[in-house]
Parts: sequence; C-alpha cells; structure tokens
Amino acid sequence: MSDSPTSHRPRILTGDTPTGRLHLGHYVGSLENRIELQDKYDCYFLLANMHAFTTRADAPQDIRTDTIEIVKDWLAVGIDPDRSTIVLQTEVPAIAELTWYFAMLLPFNRVMRNPTLKTEIEAKDLGDTYSFGFPMYAVGQCADILAFRPELVPVGVDQVAHIEMCREAARRFDQFYCNVNPKTEDDDYASAGGLFPVPKALVGRIGRLVGTDGDNKMSKSLNNAIFLSDTAKQVKKKIGAMYPGQSRNPDDPGNVEINPVFGYADAFIKDAAAVDELKDRYRRGDNLGDGHVKAAVIEAVNELLEPMRQRRAALEGKDGDERVIEVIRTGTAKANLVAEETLHLAKQAMGLDFGARNLAWR
Ligand code: TRP
Repeated sequence: MSDSPTSHRPRILTGDTPTGRLHLGHYVGSLENRIELQDKYDCYFLLANMHAFTTRADAPQDIRTDTIEIVKDWLAVGIDPDRSTIVLQTEVPAIAELTWYFAMLLPFNRVMRNPTLKTEIEAKDLGDTYSFGFPMYAVGQCADILAFRPELVPVGVDQVAHIEMCREAARRFDQFYCNVNPKTEDDDYASAGGLFPVPKALVGRIGRLVGTDGDNKMSKSLNNAIFLSDTAKQVKKKIGAMYPGQSRNPDDPGNVEINPVFGYADAFIKDAAAVDELKDRYRRGDNLGDGHVKAAVIEAVNELLEPMRQRRAALEGKDGDERVIEVIRTGTAKANLVAEETLHLAKQAMGLDFGARNLAWR
C-alpha cells in the first residue's frame, strides 16, 4: 500500500459510477491522467456504487457485477493497487454522513440547476419521475471528494459542474465552521484554517471524445463507444464502419475537420508529424482514401489497448473476481482511516464532538 493516512503527499480523489465498461472517452478524459499521477500523489479512486442505485435501484446484481468489472478495467488500464487506493463508496460510512452536512450548505435550487444533472435527466430520459436520490448524488459527490481533502480531482469535462459545487460546499463549510474569511483566495482556504481545501478539477487532454457515430459524446448508452476491453477485431469493425463525414459537404471532400476519424488520429496516433502528413495528403486528395486513415487509427488504438487486454485476461474468472475483491477490501480499509479522520475533524468544527465513537461490528 502507498502512504500512511497521515502522509502529507498531496491527495487526489476521483471515481466512476459502475454503469458498464469503460471506453476510450474515459481514457482520454480522465484515466490517462490518473495513471500518470500515481507517483506524485496519494491517489484514491472511488467506486461510486451507491450512485449507481440512483437510477437502477431495481438492479442490485447488475450493479455488483459492474462494480467488479470496472475494477478490472482500472487494473487493466494501469491503475496500480500497490501505489493507489481503490475505495468502495458503500463501505465508507463517513461519506454518507458528510453528505447530510453538505446538503445543508447548498441551496436546493442551486443543486437542481446543476447543468450536469440536467443533461443527464435528458440523456437518460428520466423525465420527472427520477428518484429523490438522483439529484442527491451531486451532493454526495461533494462528500466523496471532500472526505479525502484532496488537492486535485481528475475528471472529464462533464463533471466540472459537480466539482464547482464541491468547491462551494468546501468554502461554505470553512466559512461557517472554521472562521475562514469569505474573501480568502481559493488556494488559501487550508492555510487560513479551513478544514477543507478548495479542490481543483483536472480535465484530461481531450475533455469530450466524439463517439463512432461522429456526432455525440462517446457513451455506452448511445452505442457509439469503443470499450477498453474490445477485441482487436471489434475495434477494426467499429472504426471501419465510421462515417467519414464528407458527403455532408460534397464540395469539400478532403476536409479533415468534419471527419471524426481524424479526431481519433489526433487523439491516438502518437507521432504528430505522421498525423499532419495524413491530413495533408487527405486534404489534397493525394491518393489517400478513408480506408488508409482508418487503418492507421485502428493500428494506434489497438496498440494502446493490447497491453490492457493482456492485463485484463489475467483477471478473468473466479480467481480474478477474488483478486478484485481483495483489492477493494484493502483499499477501502485504508480509505476509511482518512475519511473517518475527516469526519471527526468536521464534527469537531461543527460542535458535534460528544465523545469517541466506536462502532465495532463483525
Ligand atoms: N459522477 C461521476 C461520473 O459519473 C463519478 C463520481 C462519483 C466521481 N463520485 C466522484 C467523480 C467523485 C469524481 C469525484 O463519472
């Protein structure tokens, strides 16, 4: 395991809701950053399985399966449980408790105006029958984050509204209960005596990756995703079937801007000069068709995914599940030390320290 909970290496907290397999959009939006930051930061990666219940309360078995699968994706992509801590939300009671206190610091209408929630209500067709817990998850996310008092939260661009709300909750807590002057700069909240730092979102190099439909954000529910666990054949098929977009503009056939395959070339072909050359030749119609560009992109994506496939293969089956559960248990035990410390300090600041708590259970 990485640091002791009292370590002063700056912390990172981020997470995913287990709703299915992770895809290339997750990779460029956030996973890539997480992997890179594992050495510099004390990293906590949260399985937001409680949030999965906000829209799928009737499917607990699916949520359990998705939770285990997402850990396999994490390990496959290069999250290293010996350096980073994997945390199961439903076994960190301090998060649920902090959610209540933060719920009192955020105006109801502020939560309901959160653009990420609004987009989700539309995209998932939740109408006006979504559960009370659904908007509540945005408040819960403030607690997910602040329970670990992190400096940074690596996320895709769609999560920035949530991080902004979390920052507001942190400021308000520090102002109400730690006497921090409201004029304090965000970076100075901790040194001004605040319990909570005002954490920053860290958005990946590509905040929004277009799906294979060429129009919408890559997303499992839109059926336009290339999954990290896709086979080489599936990748070939999906990219091969992409619509290059020229016929939208027949007078301008070599336009790389409207061709989403070039978006992937930019994202996944490491050699930038090679991409420029492809673009040049494509623009000139220089004997370079869509098949050629696609082949180059397919190769680059498969090169990225191949080591992930191999690591994932080692986690298949019952042994793999057991390994994952072990990783979850070890990480969650460590995470609870940090989160309980935060909760204790928060309750102390709020005048709620009435005695030592010992909730031993077996
Ligand atoms: N809402 C995030 C998503 O759907 C997942 C999440 C839950 C999260 N808690 C978090 C992300 C805390 C960052 C920090 O992707």
